[in-house]
Amino acid sequence: MDINLELKPGTLLRNGSYRIIEVLGRGGFGITYLAEHIMLGIKVAIKEFFPKEFCDRDSETTYTVTLGTQGNRELVGRLRAKFIKEARNIARLNHPYIIHIQDIFEENNTAYYVMDYIEGSSLQSICKQRKSIPQKDAVDYVTKIAGALEYIHSQSMTHLDVKPANIMIRKSDNAPVLIDFGLSKQYTSEGEQTSTTPVGISHGYAPIEQYRQGGVSEFSPATDIYALGATLYKLITGITPPEAPLLLDSGLHRPDGIDENVWRAISKAMSVSKSGRYSSASDFAAALNSTSVTDDDDEDTVIIDEKPEEPEKPKPVKPEKPSLVIGVPEKEHKTNKSLQIIIIAIIAFIVIAIIVSLSGGDGASSDDSDYWDSAVVEEVVPVDDYYLYDDSIVEIVDSCAW
Ligand SMILES: Nc1ncnc2c1ncn2[C@@H]1O[C@H](COP(=O)(O)OP(=O)(O)O)[C@@H](O)[C@H]1O
Ligand SMILES: [Mg+2]
Repeated sequence: MDINLELKPGTLLRNGSYRIIEVLGRGGFGITYLAEHIMLGIKVAIKEFFPKEFCDRDSETTYTVTLGTQGNRELVGRLRAKFIKEARNIARLNHPYIIHIQDIFEENNTAYYVMDYIEGSSLQSICKQRKSIPQKDAVDYVTKIAGALEYIHSQSMTHLDVKPANIMIRKSDNAPVLIDFGLSKQYTSEGEQTSTTPVGISHGYAPIEQYRQGGVSEFSPATDIYALGATLYKLITGITPPEAPLLLDSGLHRPDGIDENVWRAISKAMSVSKSGRYSSASDFAAALNSTSVTDDDDEDTVIIDEKPEEPEKPKPVKPEKPSLVIGVPEKEHKTNKSLQIIIIAIIAFIVIAIIVSLSGGDGASSDDSDYWDSAVVEEVVPVDDYYLYDDSIVEIVDSCAW
């Protein structure tokens, strides 16, 4: 585009509210600028309606957009009305992964809308720099955008231009944000489009119905689902998917380096026939997330190689009423049996000692019985381990006191 057709840095808009900083992008229907909201002191993105085929600008004297023939005038008038209407539709949306519109106004014989400025890069330029994006990250971005699409579909709206260039990745939190609703359509609750506009095509991302006149005149989430599947294909492989008409003849071939399950989800999303695709963006997201379980499974497999974590030792419980054996683990039960034997031995020993002392022989004094009590407790049940038996022993020994 001739740079004389663009607003120059420093240009003021909206009675001096915004100052143009630079051009961010130039498309068929508009120019997007980085600008400053002077009073707020924040950066914003401003999209200017400027269908380059039909418009010119007198940038030497004013910034007024000029038009050619009468026929163009009518068409541009209709497109401009659509631009404003779409901006209003997007302004109503409220979703973390959809661009937020702050303001709409008319000036310079054209229209503008002001958006939050997303500091970061589009998925298209990230793909260009790095060739492709790791599958896990790509699935994560696409899942989030599927949520955004599910939301707009619930409002009887379709985006119709989902592609990596229209998804910004915000630097601060790595969140994907869907932008550029230039081709979007609002439908009535009966699913009929509210206005007729020329259909735009993004080759590789537009499904076959967008190549047909009237192909998207009825509401269907399937068109955006195809484009989102194609977007994921591009992110993972770095290759722009084949144009939809080519798929009619040769189908979609599985490229290298794509996981089997992810591939299955992409090929279903990119089915030539609408009925072959997922019926909702969230179904596509669910399929992708179940495929990312495969990644998790891989991680689990790695964990299996490591030493398994030892199960936590059961914490001893101090019962209100001490009990020796009921409902205790086997190990404890065994310990308890040994304890019983020892106690019986002690009792037997004491009985023998009494008999001996009664019979006049030397025996243990009452002080000696204290000694045995403590000796049993210490020897059989480590106090720091099984309080249950600690108390039980004390009780039994006590009850056996003479
Ligand atoms: N809100 C925004 N924040 C930051 N950059 C943006 C924003 N909107 C658009 N851009 C940049 O401008 C480019 C063109 O904007 P877009 O709305 O996609 O218009 P078009 O595709 O019609 O030129 C985008 O690819 C992106 O790099
Ligand atoms: Mg765009």
